[in-house]
Amino acid sequence: MLDVDENTLTEIVVARHADADNPRLKQIMTSLVRHLHGFAREVGLTEDEWFEGIRFLTEVGEMTDDKRQEFILLSDTLGLSMLVTAMNNRKPRGCTESTVFGPFFVEHAPEYQCGDDVAHGAKGEPCFVSGRVTALDGTPVAGALIDVWQADSDGFYDVQYRDQEAAHARGRLRSLPDGSFHFRSVRAESYPIPYDGPVGRMLEALGRHPWRPAHLHFMIEAPGYDRLITHVFRSGDQYLDSDAVFGVRPSLIANWQQHEQGIAPDGTAMDVPFSTLDFTFVLNRSDGEERERRST
Ligand code: BEZ
Ligand code: FE
Repeated sequence: MLDVDENTLTEIVVARHADADNPRLKQIMTSLVRHLHGFAREVGLTEDEWFEGIRFLTEVGEMTDDKRQEFILLSDTLGLSMLVTAMNNRKPRGCTESTVFGPFFVEHAPEYQCGDDVAHGAKGEPCFVSGRVTALDGTPVAGALIDVWQADSDGFYDVQYRDQEAAHARGRLRSLPDGSFHFRSVRAESYPIPYDGPVGRMLEALGRHPWRPAHLHFMIEAPGYDRLITHVFRSGDQYLDSDAVFGVRPSLIANWQQHEQGIAPDGTAMDVPFSTLDFTFVLNRSDGEERERRST
């Protein structure tokens, strides 16, 4: 007869997984059980607190649907998403760093040519974005598929407007033969992650704010290179040091130049102020040799 008490329980649970067919699942669940039990012991978890945790996770599940992923938001705000991203995207120094994907990517966004306006009616001050896609040795990467998405000046992504079908401030385009690209959009502004659910209440209870510093999201794919999922952050933003989802890396901060009305980089006569951003993305070759030389 097993003697289950608070001291023997953890190893008894772990032993129950002995016959699991999938060794990776067994490793993950064994570690999870040990850490969960260790956590409960460390804080001396009470029955009320245990039930409060169950209630909280139930609400997280109830808040989740095809438009709102409260579990990912929980992972993001606890730093787990950024930890997993960082561990799985180590690359040589000089390559553009990866950061969190976020919940607002949409597959098969509208296709644009260089020079087009991807804002497509999104609210905000005009912004002209240019850049290059290169390899670590500076070789231009032509024909790279560039997905870009961002919030409007009210801090909302198109998919957050329940009554709006068309894509705004998102699109995909390809780098030109010299690796360059350029498009028009609106100036990114800081915005709060959705905080009207259990994760928002958790942040408030912890004395945390829900804000993310202004950023553009990019996903860049090209044959022979690792897919890059990243952001470019606007320098000077007040939330760079306290991003609600811990996604900022200093190498991803760039200057947005402010301009009075006049001629934009693409020759457009602008009768309102506008901004410009230029950023070079350095991709990591996906061949084995480069991976072996990974230093960071
Ligand atoms: C975003 O940047 O779009 C985002 C990332 C994590 C949570 C919420 C939003
Ligand atoms: Fe975002």
